Amino acid sequence: MKGKLGLLASLVLVCNYFPVATAQGSPNSKNAVVVDGTNFELHGDHVSYRFHVDDSTDDDHPLAGDLLLDHFGGSVFGPIPTELVPSTNGWVGMQGRVRREFPDQGRGDFRIPAIRIRQSEGYTVTRLQYQSNTVVPGKPALPGLPATFGSEEDVTTLVVHLYDKYSDIAVDLSYSVFPKYDAIVRSVNVTNKGDGDITVESLASLSVDLPYQDLDMISLRGDWAREARRERKRVDYGVQSFGSVTGYSSALHNPFLALVDPSTTESQGEAWGFSLVYSGSFEVNVEKGSQGLTRATLGFNPKHLSWKLGPGETLTSPECVSVYSKDGVGGMSRSLHRLYRKHLMKSKFATEDRPVMLNSWEALYFDYDQSTINRVAEEAAAIGAQLFTLDDGWFGVDYPRTDDDAGLGDWVPNPARFPDGLGPLVENITDLKAVNSSTNLRFGIWVEPEMVNPNSSLYREHPDWVLHAGSYPRTETRNQLVLNLALPEVQDFIIDFMSEILNSADITYVKYDNNRGMHEISSPSNAHAYMLGIYRVLDTLTAKFPNVLFEGCASGGARFDPGILSNFPQIWTSDNTDAVDRIFIQLGTSLAYPASAMGAQISSVPNHQTGRSVPVTFRGHVAMMGGMFGLSLDPAAIPEHEQAALPELIALAEKVRPLILKGDMWRLNLPEESNWPAILFISEDGSQAVLFYFQLNPNVNHALPWVKLQGLDSQAMYSVDGNQTYSGATLMNVGLQYEFDGSYGSKVVWFEKQ
Ligand SMILES: *[C@@H]1O[C@H](CO)[C@@H](O)[C@H](O)[C@H]1NC(C)=O
Ligand SMILES: *[C@@H]1O[C@H](CO)[C@@H](O)[C@H](O)[C@H]1NC(C)=O
Ligand SMILES: *[C@@H]1O[C@H](CO)[C@@H](O)[C@H](O)[C@H]1NC(C)=O
Ligand SMILES: *[C@@H]1O[C@H](CO)[C@@H](O)[C@H](O)[C@H]1NC(C)=O
Ligand SMILES: *[C@@H]1O[C@H](CO)[C@@H](O)[C@H](O)[C@H]1NC(C)=O
Repeated sequence: MKGKLGLLASLVLVCNYFPVATAQGSPNSKNAVVVDGTNFELHGDHVSYRFHVDDSTDDDHPLAGDLLLDHFGGSVFGPIPTELVPSTNGWVGMQGRVRREFPDQGRGDFRIPAIRIRQSEGYTVTRLQYQSNTVVPGKPALPGLPATFGSEEDVTTLVVHLYDKYSDIAVDLSYSVFPKYDAIVRSVNVTNKGDGDITVESLASLSVDLPYQDLDMISLRGDWAREARRERKRVDYGVQSFGSVTGYSSALHNPFLALVDPSTTESQGEAWGFSLVYSGSFEVNVEKGSQGLTRATLGFNPKHLSWKLGPGETLTSPECVSVYSKDGVGGMSRSLHRLYRKHLMKSKFATEDRPVMLNSWEALYFDYDQSTINRVAEEAAAIGAQLFTLDDGWFGVDYPRTDDDAGLGDWVPNPARFPDGLGPLVENITDLKAVNSSTNLRFGIWVEPEMVNPNSSLYREHPDWVLHAGSYPRTETRNQLVLNLALPEVQDFIIDFMSEILNSADITYVKYDNNRGMHEISSPSNAHAYMLGIYRVLDTLTAKFPNVLFEGCASGGARFDPGILSNFPQIWTSDNTDAVDRIFIQLGTSLAYPASAMGAQISSVPNHQTGRSVPVTFRGHVAMMGGMFGLSLDPAAIPEHEQAALPELIALAEKVRPLILKGDMWRLNLPEESNWPAILFISEDGSQAVLFYFQLNPNVNHALPWVKLQGLDSQAMYSVDGNQTYSGATLMNVGLQYEFDGSYGSKVVWFEKQ
C-alpha cells in the first residue's frame, strides 16, 4: 500500500468551477440553457442541473476533458461552492471520487460505466473528452425511437460533443430542458468515426452521480396480474440492479426509478424521478460506490445489446426523462404526468373524451358466433355503453381461432363465425343507438399483431419469420411464438393487415395485445432491432389512422412504458380487474404514468382472477379513475341491483372524466399504509376537484379517520357535493369524515371552488 492513510489530512480541489455570476444564471430568467465557456447550466422552474468540463490542461491528467456534475436539485444561481474531494489514497483514483456525467470504463473509475465499447482490437477502454457544444431551440426527434417533443417555447436542447481520439469514436450527449415541468431529458448517440468495426456492449441513456448522502430507491415490480407494486428500500453500498431481459419492458420491473431522501414522503421532501422512454429490455443500476457517492444509470440492458457499428454508423440510445421535486413522491409524479400528457403522448385522445366501452372478453371468451356478438352489442348499447369491442376469437380461416392454440397470424375473419366478414357486422353494431348518448354505438376490435401460433397459415408459409436461434427448439408460451419485427417484411405484413382491417369497416378502437416475452433470439442485438421495427409499425399505423383510439395491452400491464404511451394514449393496466387489487396496481402505476393512460373497467363478481366480490359502486369508482370507463362482462348476466346502479355510475364517470384526463392527481392515502386509500384529482384551472375515498376492511366500533385534502387554494371556499362550503385551509388542515358500511365502502366527493 502506497500513500498515507490519513484520508482527511489533505483536501484537493478538483472542480475548478468559479463561474461569473451573470443575470442569465438566475433561475427566474427565461434561459433554460446557459453556457458559459465550458460551464453548463440547465434550469427548470424549480430545478437546476449544472456541470462543467474539467479544465486540467495536462492531457495526461485522467480527468482532462471529463464532464463533471456540480449539481442536480433545487434551483441555484451564481457561484456554487467547489466540491472538496479527499486526497487519493488507495486503489480508487480521482476518477472514482468525482461525479462524472458520462463515465467510461477501463481508466480507474471502478463504478458502473455508462458506456462500454469493444474495440476491433478487443479491448474495452474508452476515453471520451469534451470537444464542443451546440444549443438548439426546441428538441430534435430521435431517429426511429419514441421521444418527448415540444415547440421552441416548451423546450431547449444542449448537445455536448465528446470524442475518443484514440479510437475515433464520437459521442453526443443531448440534454433537453422542459422548464415548466422541471424535466431534463437525456439521450446519447455513439458514432464510429474510425475504419474498423466496434461493438457497443452497454450504453446508458442517463447516468447521474449524486453526492454523498443517504438515499432511498423506489421502483415498481410485479408479474402477471399483480403489476406495479411499489417497492422502497435504502440504497446500500454496492450495485442494486433491476431490469428486463424479456425483450419487452415487462411486468417484472418497470423502466422507472425514483431516488428520494430517506425522510421524503408522498407530499414532502426531495425526489428525483427517472423514466426510460423505451419498450424493450432495459437495465437500471443504482450503485453506492466506495466513496459513498450514488450513481444511477438507466438504459439498454447489456445482455440484449452487443450492437456492432461499422465505419460511419451510429447507435442512438432511447431517452431518459428526469424530473426533480421538493414536493415529495407526489410532486415528482405530477411533473411526469403533465409532461407525458402534453409532450409525449402523440394521440389526439391523450386528453380527449373517450367512449364508455363494453369489451366481450370476460363476457364470452372464445365462445361465440355472429348472433351472440349482435346480442351482446345490443345489450351493451341498452345499458349505456358507447363502444363495443370484439375481443379475441374473431379470425382464422384454415386454423380458426376458437381457442388459444391456433389462428394467431391469420388476420382474416373466421367465415364460420362471420360469413359476411366484419363489414356487415360492424354496420349492424354502429347502427345501434347508445342509450342516453348523442352517438351511435362504436365498434372496436382486438388484435395481437406481433404473435403467431404454429397452428396457422402464416407460420406454415413463413416459419423463418419467428424469433429463433438456429436449430434450438422454438419454445412456446400460450402456444405461440413471436414474429421477428426486426425483419422489414414482417413490419410490412403487420402494417398491411392492420390497414386492411381498419379500412374494411368503421372501426374506431383497437385493443393491441402482446401476450408473451421473447425467448430464443438470433443474437443479443436482435432485441433492439425488434424495437426499432415495432416503433416503425406503431408510428406508421397511428399516423395513418389518427382517429382510431389504440389501447396497448401485454398480458395486462407487461408493456406499460413511455415508449408505448408515445403512440398509444391508453394501456390496459392489468388483467387483474379485482377492484381492491386495482387500487394498489393503479396507484403504483401512477408513480410514473398519468391516470388518463390507464385502462380500467368494471368486471363481474366473484372476480375471475381473485374470486373476491366487491360492490358494483366500489368497482365503478375504481374503474373511473382510468382514462376510459367501461365494462368487461356479459350484460345479460348483470344482477338487477347492479344494473340499477349503472346509469348513475356512467353519469358520474362522465362528470369526473375531464379531471382524470387533464387534472393533477394527489395520492392522499396509500393502500399499503392505510385502510382508507384516498385520491384527489384537481382540474387544471383549480376550479374543481374530485375525491375518491375507499374503506378496505370493516371499521367496527371505532373512531372514524379524517381525510385531509391537498393541493387546494387555502384562501378559497369550496362547496362539497353542492351543500356545505369550507375553505381550502379547512379541507386541507381539518379534513372530512365519511362513514362506510362494512368492507369495500367507497365514496366520490365533488368540490367546486366558489
Ligand atoms: C447525434 O445526436 C445529436 C443530438 O441530437 C445530433 O445533432 C447528431 O446529428 C446525432 N448524430 C448522428 C450521427 O445521428
Ligand atoms: C393445434 O390445434 C389443435 C386443435 O385445433 C390442437 O389439438 C393442437 O394442440 C394445436 N397444436 C399446437 C402446437 O398448439
Ligand atoms: C344484423 O342484425 C340483424 C338483426 O338482428 C341480423 O338478422 C343479422 O344477422 C345481423 N347481421 C350481421 C352481419 O351481424
Ligand atoms: C337514461 O336516462 C334516463 C333519464 O335520465 C334515466 O332514467 C335512465 O336510467 C338512463 N338509462 C341508462 C341506461 O343510462
Ligand atoms: C349533500 O349533497 C349530496 C348530493 O348532492 C347528498 O347526497 C347529501 O345527502 C347531502 N348532504 C347533506 C349533509 O346535506
